Amino acid sequence: MKISRLFTIFLIFVMLVLPVGCNQSTPPESTPMPTSTTGAKPKKTYKDLIIGFAQLGAESEWRVANTKSIKETADNLGVELRFSDAQQSQQKQIEAIRKLIIEKVDVIGISPIVETGWEEVFQEAKDAGIPIILSDRRAAVPEDLYVTYLGSDFLEEGRNAARVLAKLVNGEAKIVELTGTIDSAPANDRFKGFREILKSYPGMRIIDSESGDFTRARGKEVMDTFLKQYGNSITAVFAHNDDMALGAIEAIKNYGLKPGIDIKIVSIDASHGAFEAMIAGELNATVECNPLLGPQFFDLALKVVNGEPVPKWVPSTEGIFYPDNAVEILPSRKY
Ligand code: AHR
Repeated sequence: MKISRLFTIFLIFVMLVLPVGCNQSTPPESTPMPTSTTGAKPKKTYKDLIIGFAQLGAESEWRVANTKSIKETADNLGVELRFSDAQQSQQKQIEAIRKLIIEKVDVIGISPIVETGWEEVFQEAKDAGIPIILSDRRAAVPEDLYVTYLGSDFLEEGRNAARVLAKLVNGEAKIVELTGTIDSAPANDRFKGFREILKSYPGMRIIDSESGDFTRARGKEVMDTFLKQYGNSITAVFAHNDDMALGAIEAIKNYGLKPGIDIKIVSIDASHGAFEAMIAGELNATVECNPLLGPQFFDLALKVVNGEPVPKWVPSTEGIFYPDNAVEILPSRKY
C-alpha cells in the first residue's frame, strides 16, 4: 500500500515538473509574443511599399509631366513602383491592373482613360484586398470600389474657360470646340461646365464641337476641317487642352488668319507650350490643370496602407493664366 501511494505521488510530481524542465526553449502557450510598447502594428514606411500605377498613355505635354512626377516621386521616396503605359487603350489598362493584382502590390493607382467600363476589374482588385486610388481622372463606379480620387475639378475648369472667353469676346462669339478623348472624365466635365456658363450669354454660340483626342495632331486636323467648313465665321476656339489648342493655332495660321487676334483661343492645362503661345500672342488664356500629382499620390497610398482615413476626393488647387504676365511666370512653371 505504502509503496503504491509513494509511486502515485512520484508520478504526479513527474507530470507537473517535467514538461517545463524538458522544454526550456519553448515558452508556455500563455507567454505573450513581443510587441511594440503600445501593442499596435508597426506602421509601414515608403520603403516598404510596392505600388502599381496604370497610366493611360503619353498623349499630351500634361501627361508626360504627370508620369514624370509619379516616377520621380517614387524614386525620391524609395517606393518600389510598377508602372505601365497603356498607350491610349482601355483594354491594356485593364490588363495592367490584372497583372498588378497577380503581383499582389499594396495599392493600385490608375488614371482611367475613359469613365465607364471599370466595375469588373475594380471589383477583382477589391476582392484581392488591393485598394485603388484614382489619380487625375474619375471612373464611373460605386464609391466602395476605390479609396480616393486625387485630381482636378474638371467641371469648374470648363466653367472657368467659358467665363474667361465671355470676357474676351464681350459675350458675342461663334465658337468651335475641340473636345478631349471621347467618354473621358475631363472631356465630359469640361463640355458640361462650359455650357453651364454659356447659358447666361445668348450671344455666344457653339457652332461645332468635335474630339481632338487631347493630341496636337488631332487638334490641328479637326481645326483644319472646321476652317474649311465655316471659314471666317469662326471667332473663338475652346480647346479642352493646350496641345489641341497648339494644333489649332497651326491650322489657323495655315488658313491665313491670326490666332489670338482674328480668332480668340482659350484652353486648359497651363503647360509650357501654352505659355510660349501666349507670349507669341497666339493664345488668349489657359486654365490650369495640375499634373504634378506624385507627392500627394504616394502620401495617400502610404496612409491607405497604414489604415489611416483619407478623404474621398483630394482636389488640386488651380489658377488661370493670361498673356500679360506670361513672360515672368514661364520660368517658374514646372511642366
Ligand atoms: O486628364 C487630364 C487631361 O488629360 C489633360 O487636360 C490633358 O492634357 C490630358 O491629356
